[in-house]
Amino acid sequence: MTTTVAVAGSTGSIGTQTLEVIDTDPERYRVSALTAGSSWEAVAEQALHYRPDVVVLADKTNHAALRQALPAQIAVAVGSDALESVVADADVTVNGIVGFAGLPATLACLEAGKRLGLANKESLIAAGPVVQKARRTPGAELIPVDSEHAAIHQCLRGTSDPRRITRLQITASGGPFRGRTADELASVTVKEALAHPTWAMGPKITIDSSTLMNKGLEVIEAIELFGAPSDLETELGFDDIDVVVHPQSIVHSMATFSDGSTIAQLSNPNMRGPIGYALAYPDRLGAPFGEVDWAQPMTLTFEPPDRTAFPCLDLAFAAGRIGGTAPAWLSAANEVAVEAFLDERISWSEIAVVVEQVLTLHDGGMGETLESVLEGDRLARVRAHEALSRSSHPQGTQS
Ligand SMILES: NC(=O)c1ccc[n+]([C@@H]2O[C@H](COP(=O)([O-])OP(=O)(O)OC[C@H]3O[C@@H](n4cnc5c(N)ncnc54)[C@H](OP(=O)(O)O)[C@@H]3O)[C@@H](O)[C@H]2O)c1
Repeated sequence: MTTTVAVAGSTGSIGTQTLEVIDTDPERYRVSALTAGSSWEAVAEQALHYRPDVVVLADKTNHAALRQALPAQIAVAVGSDALESVVADADVTVNGIVGFAGLPATLACLEAGKRLGLANKESLIAAGPVVQKARRTPGAELIPVDSEHAAIHQCLRGTSDPRRITRLQITASGGPFRGRTADELASVTVKEALAHPTWAMGPKITIDSSTLMNKGLEVIEAIELFGAPSDLETELGFDDIDVVVHPQSIVHSMATFSDGSTIAQLSNPNMRGPIGYALAYPDRLGAPFGEVDWAQPMTLTFEPPDRTAFPCLDLAFAAGRIGGTAPAWLSAANEVAVEAFLDERISWSEIAVVVEQVLTLHDGGMGETLESVLEGDRLARVRAHEALSRSSHPQGTQS
């Protein structure tokens, strides 16, 4: 039977790689919907190739141009309602939208009782309690696409009782600035921050990897995924998660059992592997992605992160421990700060300063309803823009 797949954020790094995975088994998977933010030409080109039922653009501006570029058999729609409806119709959605904008797709898929392959970690982090409620919809399945969580998912599947897991080790490449001191990091440029040593990804997550905020977000994501009711529920909290810097990005994460044994998932860095895992689960994809050649010599190294040079990591732990809407505030403030850094309005080091300033203003919101999450996100963005206006970094000084 063919599985229909909605690719949300199809023009991005995760989206295009999802299409490449689907290409390996066109009998098994059919693209039913493609969605993008504003890149209408790129999504039109994809639609002419994959012939989905519908294409959705978030930005209304180029609706007419997109309509004109596609044959009448392919429906064209704009806006959030259309996105929610195409996601609800597909058997599986891979959510590769970047940032908080991914929340409607996450909720619509789970509330329709369908499978969600989740790359868009920000929606789960910002709206944890709301997403957990949606996850309880009969038929709903949340399979992580983030490589670390796909790894942990595979480690936990191997045990009859996930409560026998006592610690998780989430690995981090360390990003482009591993080994640098806080002083050395004060003057790094956007270009340097975008030069990730092991993964080719979209700009926002690449900057998050350089600050280790991505790893902090992944710690919160791990608690949401594996600390909440599901068939892989553990009893783990924030004190039970280690972040381990592993520059080769071959070990994607690990789980340690009560008897002291650690199991890990290994493959070369290639996001098509975790994407295929989320599509095929509980089966496996027929095509290998990132298979390790064990006949070749290889050295794997592990070291603790430098929490002084990369303060975003502990800011994320702090937000996770506060709970409620604090992770939403952290994630929103980070989105605003990263955008400002990419626009060269603040320095790299000021990303953490902005996030910390916003987090200290958290209002104790609990985030149990969608409205309160949306309000938390809105307020945090206001506070982040206020923090930016206090920033001392002169515009245009980076190259
Ligand atoms: N890339 C990776 O290897 C990787 C690995 C693990 C997790 N993730 C996570 O996956 C998500 C996507 O990352 P990415 O690297 O693929 O990002 P990306 O390359 O920047 O792609 C983002 C996608 O989201 C769309 N989009 C942007 N703003 C939107 C909006 N307001 N409404 C609807 N769609 C919008 C973009 O459309 P336009 O092209 O029209 O702007 C694009 O299709 C992030 O949450 C990231 O943390 C990524």
